[in-house]
Amino acid sequence: MSDLLLAVGILCAINTGLALLLMLAEAVIVDTRDRSITINDTQIVTVPGGRPLLAALKDRKIFIPSACGGRGSCGLCKVTVIEGAGPLLATETPWLTAEEQKSGVRLSCQVKVRRDLRIRIPEELFAVKQYQAEVATLSDLTHDIKQVTLKLLDPPEITFTAGQFVQIEVPPYALTDEPIYRAYSVASDPCQPSQIELEIRYVPNGICTTYVHKHLKVGDRVTLNGPYGTFGLRPTGRELIFIAGGSGMAPIRAILLEMARTQNPRPCRYFFGARAKRDLFLVEEMRRIETELPSFRFIPALSAPDPDDRWEGETGLITEVVGRHVTNAAQAEAYLCGSPLMIDACIQVLREKGMPEENIFYDKFA
Ligand SMILES: Cc1cc2nc3c(=O)[nH]c(=O)nc-3n(C[C@H](O)[C@H](O)[C@H](O)COP(=O)(O)OP(=O)(O)OC[C@H]3O[C@@H](n4cnc5c(N)ncnc54)[C@H](O)[C@@H]3O)c2cc1C
Ligand code: FES
Repeated sequence: MSDLLLAVGILCAINTGLALLLMLAEAVIVDTRDRSITINDTQIVTVPGGRPLLAALKDRKIFIPSACGGRGSCGLCKVTVIEGAGPLLATETPWLTAEEQKSGVRLSCQVKVRRDLRIRIPEELFAVKQYQAEVATLSDLTHDIKQVTLKLLDPPEITFTAGQFVQIEVPPYALTDEPIYRAYSVASDPCQPSQIELEIRYVPNGICTTYVHKHLKVGDRVTLNGPYGTFGLRPTGRELIFIAGGSGMAPIRAILLEMARTQNPRPCRYFFGARAKRDLFLVEEMRRIETELPSFRFIPALSAPDPDDRWEGETGLITEVVGRHVTNAAQAEAYLCGSPLMIDACIQVLREKGMPEENIFYDKFA
């Protein structure tokens, strides 16, 4: 027994020693000399070497979308590196198509700035700004979704299109030693530029959602940046099919509020999936939009209603409900928002109903 304990002790000591050596090696070997990053052949910024490209650009107020805080698990932080990046890493390949890999697209959170770089980013990212905001309201939409209204202070207004998202910063607290960013779709109408509404679902032990649900208070200051994303209505005139689950409601709501305000006449149906009645929210608002937009229909569906719910509406998985309602989707266009699993399953159903791949748009809340 004592031999076993001794062996375990020695192994732990070796592990700790190796970890310390690695940290020391990194501190000594990592070349922190200044490097230049040439962006779109028009702008050059100088950054200290050794940092991830995503963080280095953020320090220079150039914001690349990122929803996972640089852990390589959201795939949002893509930039094209023309010169200076090392070889593609195994952590990047799952997120990049063969075409993207060939044309130099990289995950900026995984690429370290070790040499001078030449990169290309979408021009619209130059319009992304950092904002200081104040929590104006904080209320429960369901038992696990909060609506947060942020009043913009500096700059006092944000310009965005319905369907876009922002990244909010969580300051260091019990669950994180350093500031981290997470993506949240704006749920309010872009015609209100001085404040935005977010719908944030609690993820047990999630760093940002625990902060928002258990720590954030009315009057608190929040740093955010944005807007990002291309999940907006395409001006095609096609029939619209919206599908969302849980907090996937957020960007669809922004699009619908704008459609109602502008009296958009496109025929449209909105399938919203929830487990039970307690997971449904904003139903009255959706019913109001039905009265304002005669060609709009809201179809909430419960996958596991409680007996007490006395639910007489649609039941089943949202894929089954869409399958029952949509007969031929060849001429329609779809906007999907929610968990990656739900989105993949819905894409499958829409394809079976004849919808061309290029008419399906989605935001996966990965
Ligand atoms: C473009 C975009 C827009 C988004 N918009 C919204 C929005 O409007 N409202 C909203 O609530 N969320 C939205 N998200 C998700 C959001 O960015 C966070 O991923 C989510 O809130 C969890 O953050 P966290 O820091 O609390 O959890 P983390 O600390 O990142 O995760 C903790 C653990 O929970 C797991 N986890 C993370 N997310 C989920 C999840 N959704 N369900 C189950 N397990 C999870 C992780 O794998 C990890 O193990 C969006 C994501 C993207 C990419
Ligand atoms: S920030 Fe999420 S993969 Fe890079």
